[in-house]
Amino acid sequence: MTDRKKVTLPMLFDKMAKGIPLTMITCYDFPMAYLVEQAGLDIVLVGDSLGMTMLGYDSTLPVTMDDMIRHAQAVRRGTPNSWLIGDMPYMSYQPSDETAVRCAGRFMAEAACDGIKLEGGQEITPRVRAIVAAGIPVMGHLGLTPQSVSSLGGFRLQGKSGKQAKKIVDDARALEDAGAMAILLELVPDRVSQVITERASIPIISLGSGPHAHGQLLIFHDMFGLYPKFTPKMAKRYADAGKVIGDGLKQYVAEVTSKVFPEPERYFGIKDEEYEELMRLLAQEG
Ligand code: KIV
Repeated sequence: MTDRKKVTLPMLFDKMAKGIPLTMITCYDFPMAYLVEQAGLDIVLVGDSLGMTMLGYDSTLPVTMDDMIRHAQAVRRGTPNSWLIGDMPYMSYQPSDETAVRCAGRFMAEAACDGIKLEGGQEITPRVRAIVAAGIPVMGHLGLTPQSVSSLGGFRLQGKSGKQAKKIVDDARALEDAGAMAILLELVPDRVSQVITERASIPIISLGSGPHAHGQLLIFHDMFGLYPKFTPKMAKRYADAGKVIGDGLKQYVAEVTSKVFPEPERYFGIKDEEYEELMRLLAQEG
């Protein structure tokens, strides 16, 4: 597919040490993953945001482990060389350490992921320790954690007050101490993200949390106009693929309706003698 080297954990840490920003994106299926591989992204997250972007739910909560595994397998087939992270869906790790290790293990064994991501701070460190002890790299996720959207009061900036910001800084420290290999900060103020990044010895990735982190993440569908419900402020639109596809579909409808499609070069003929043989056989049947 590409001749780039498989991204490894030491390669990610090496880039961080050299001050080279890490590139990360969400991805949910084979054709997207193929494009991501060609573009050479470092880290690919099969996010449970697929519940919204791919399955049309209003939140990530209905997503199951089986949904995640199916999509992660497709993504891995498209991007064999990126560092692939499976996102632990709602209730795949909250109930117990054992549930968490089993579900994390499924991402590794069934979808050839390189690690997993889960949401939460100090309260979730026993799960992080258990998964890391099973030999599975863990990325933490702080700030706006969509699985807790109800208690957070909506999809909004987190850590606005000094006290709330301190809690996020402490959570980041706790995750690192528990063995997390990286932390994603979603919708955290830029200077809070800077404080966390300066104190961390693991990669900090920003989603809408400013330029100071070691790397950046965007949601694929937001980048390319493929999510019809809304586009968050943090999402930069790099192309309007939604419009390109929409225009193509309208043209297809118009061409079929007006009998312009299919043109002669889109279908196949049969030799005259074979056609005559067909007619003869049909005639014999009466
Ligand atoms: O599911 C997801 O894509 C995520 C991102 C919002 C970070 O967790």
